[in-house]
Amino acid sequence: MPDIPSSSDLDVASKLVLLRVDINSPIDPVTKRIVSDARIDKSLPTIRDLADRGARLVVIAHQGDALDYHNLIPTEEHATKLAEKLGRPVQWVDDVAGPEARRRISILVDGDILLLDNIRIYGEELSTFERDVKLTPEQMAATYLVRKLAPLFDVYVNDAFAAAHRAAPSMIAFQRLLPSAAGLLLATEIAGLSRIVDDPARPAVFLLGGLKVSDGFSVMGRVLRDGIADRVLTTGVLGEIFLLADGTPLGQTTERFIAQHDLTRHVAQAEALLAAYRDRIGVPVDVAVIDGGERREIPVAELPSDTLIVDVGESTIRGYEVEIAAAGTVFVNGPAGSYEHRGSDVGTQRLWTAVAAAPGMTAIGGGDTVASAKRFVDLDDIGFVSTAGGALIRFVSGQPLPLLEAFRTYG
Ligand code: 3PG
Repeated sequence: MPDIPSSSDLDVASKLVLLRVDINSPIDPVTKRIVSDARIDKSLPTIRDLADRGARLVVIAHQGDALDYHNLIPTEEHATKLAEKLGRPVQWVDDVAGPEARRRISILVDGDILLLDNIRIYGEELSTFERDVKLTPEQMAATYLVRKLAPLFDVYVNDAFAAAHRAAPSMIAFQRLLPSAAGLLLATEIAGLSRIVDDPARPAVFLLGGLKVSDGFSVMGRVLRDGIADRVLTTGVLGEIFLLADGTPLGQTTERFIAQHDLTRHVAQAEALLAAYRDRIGVPVDVAVIDGGERREIPVAELPSDTLIVDVGESTIRGYEVEIAAAGTVFVNGPAGSYEHRGSDVGTQRLWTAVAAAPGMTAIGGGDTVASAKRFVDLDDIGFVSTAGGALIRFVSGQPLPLLEAFRTYG
């Protein structure tokens, strides 16, 4: 891990500080209002700390994306929420790096906080731009956002771990031009997740499920290969893919569902992992379907079933509960079943209850994972709840994160 300077060690009094946070939040499709404040809440300590110490603080953030255009809205409501939660004014301007934003930045006084509008009004900040146009570091520094803003500031602080996988100018270009530091949340995220991958208390159990099967495989490949996981317990569609790899026919309906989601290609990957690490991979021993409105459990030996598999069964749940209770570390990604519906939510509910009660270190992250946990348990009972989704998967999978690379190179 790079040794990134901490924002708390910086003298920020009377300095113009540019702070990049990730307060990208789920938005109600009809009202266009924020439906979860989780990331806003986690951004408060760094904002409060910098403003309390007399910084002239300018906060930048993205909301939504090109493909995620339903969530692409101004950051005005974010400013209102920040002000309420901080108990102090947070100014907002519907501009990012144009004349009005620059004028408002120039008149800030010590302790002022100004949130700029959604930085994704600039195409260079969109993830599709990042994917299609690979900028060199020089080109990054010459983007509109960086050219206009960097000269105004004394210091750059990044607290946006959840966007650490994005090689956007706002994330990785300022480190080259300004003295830079990690905010408190970024430091906490790196420390919390490093504990899981660098030195997990044993046995380390990775409970992986959900429909984002490629995330599960990224994590599994790495944690099994590098000896980080003592056990990987599979649930959800990921578990079904392992059943197929093990030669268990699931039935036409479930196999069609898997094919329609373009997941059949993962069966070969599961076969390879089973061949190399069979004794460290937990595969469901029973599953559940909804038949005539009622939950029906089917032992794996009695598959295939013509009805769609929607959950793991009681024997699988009990076996996993025992392993979770005995674990030194539990990392969870992805729900165990279709947890939004009665009858198919049993595995998700029981396993979250087991994780919340586990005596070992517990860590979770990812939008769907956290949403499913929140439905059944108090998040305060989980040891570490990451704000990140994609960045978390990359971190745990051992893939480089552009933000950390930028700090390593220029920080
Ligand atoms: C996230 O929600 O995962 C982060 O805010 C990154 O957002 P993005 O996927 O739109 O870049």
